[in-house]
Amino acid sequence: MGTQMKLGMFYWQVGHHIAAWRHPESTPDSGVNVPHLIELAQLAEKGLFDMFFMADSVTFWRGSLESMSRDSYSTWIEPFTMMCMLSQHTRHLGLVCTATATYDQPYLLARRFASLDIISGGRAGWNLVTSGNKLEADSFGLGEHMEKAARYRRGREFAHVVRGLWNSFGEGAFVRDRESGRYFDPDKIQVLDHSGEFLGARGPLNVSPSPQGEPVLIQAGASEDGRELAAATAEVVFGASQSIEYAKEFYSDVKGRMANYGRDPDSLKIMPGLSVNVGETHEDGVAKFEELQDLIDPRTGLQLLSQRLDYDLTGYDVDQPLPDIPVNEIGGSRAEMTIKTARDNNMTIKELYRYFAGARGHYQINGSVTEVADLMEEWVTDGACDGFNIMPPLYPHSLGDFVDLVVPELQRRGLFRTEYEATTLRGNLGLTRPPWSAGDLEGSTIGKAAAE
Ligand SMILES: Cc1cc2nc3c(=O)[nH]c(=O)nc-3n(C[C@H](O)[C@H](O)[C@H](O)COP(=O)(O)O)c2cc1C
Repeated sequence: MGTQMKLGMFYWQVGHHIAAWRHPESTPDSGVNVPHLIELAQLAEKGLFDMFFMADSVTFWRGSLESMSRDSYSTWIEPFTMMCMLSQHTRHLGLVCTATATYDQPYLLARRFASLDIISGGRAGWNLVTSGNKLEADSFGLGEHMEKAARYRRGREFAHVVRGLWNSFGEGAFVRDRESGRYFDPDKIQVLDHSGEFLGARGPLNVSPSPQGEPVLIQAGASEDGRELAAATAEVVFGASQSIEYAKEFYSDVKGRMANYGRDPDSLKIMPGLSVNVGETHEDGVAKFEELQDLIDPRTGLQLLSQRLDYDLTGYDVDQPLPDIPVNEIGGSRAEMTIKTARDNNMTIKELYRYFAGARGHYQINGSVTEVADLMEEWVTDGACDGFNIMPPLYPHSLGDFVDLVVPELQRRGLFRTEYEATTLRGNLGLTRPPWSAGDLEGSTIGKAAAE
């Protein structure tokens, strides 16, 4: 049997299709509906998914009030609170959420993830983002969003400090010995003392070691800076690919960079997003997609595209091709890819926003079980990815279809597990805990000296 693929269930309120909430069978308050969220997580666990992933940004804003008022992606339960809740209703599913290295603080973040790891019995993962949305700055009373290169440098430093804090206690440090009166062994403590370009932190962490030791570190950037950060630190990368050719280039490029950091390419799993409308036949899958496409509000479609490109398209004739759009650092790698898709396929603005509405630039497939399984098999066997971040267009229906129809087919082909292999997220991903050394970054000392 060949290598098996990994699967994430990428949660996005109501479903990934922009019009999902307007579907008559949707759960429009998905982001705050606790029984519904538990149902989704349990469905993902029934399908033996590696993880449930929740994206996040620390702002309400992505566009004008008028456009926001037509989008279900505006309010949701804070991800940590949600993950802690879900941990009590699942047993094997990894629990992954986003937290920003640009606006958070390493000590606070390290505590929260270590705590989630304890609460969930070793199933926590952190999606480190640098916050692409410039409007997040306003949530903190900051006039300006930090420029991209600085955000990535801070992200790198942030990951290092967090990992240093997670490594505060050596194996067996907590003796809790009633006889001798020793609670923990001071010789097994590793005190990080860090003062760097952006951050300062003195350890140790005041949370004892969690089951995984370190929650799994995940990233999702695809620019030059993003690839470099992933190669240096990530254990999982969530990608966004609009073609197998791009996915292959991304896969070999990021894995190729790992040698510069002394890392084995197998210690990183690359999982692009995949939106699936599946039915018994090709026509069934396409019909499910078309039903959602018919519900797109043109204003919301145009707004989503404008936001992704960081270029206001209001007022343009939507039956014409895209105007010349300068790619800036806010739009980043995804904007570049989207513009290329439009040019390569001679799309009008309207065709592009309708294409984009289904999965925000991730790969989409609408069709039969065989078609979906063939595509997934081709991507994993041809070196385009190690698995997928599944993006159901509508909850719970599209997730249910995937679990009931596609998962058994993947299992039949020997491409997916038939039971969980481990109790931890890292174990199910087939990864081992990465080595860590304070010497990896300037500005840190570690050891007893820092403790005195
Ligand atoms: C699957 C996926 C999930 C993401 N989740 C988030 C998120 O939750 N919050 C966020 O601010 N950015 C998120 N991003 C955006 C990336 O972190 C990154 O900012 C974006 O890809 C632009 O950076 P780049 O130009 O380096 O690629 C996500 C990207 C992908 C592909």
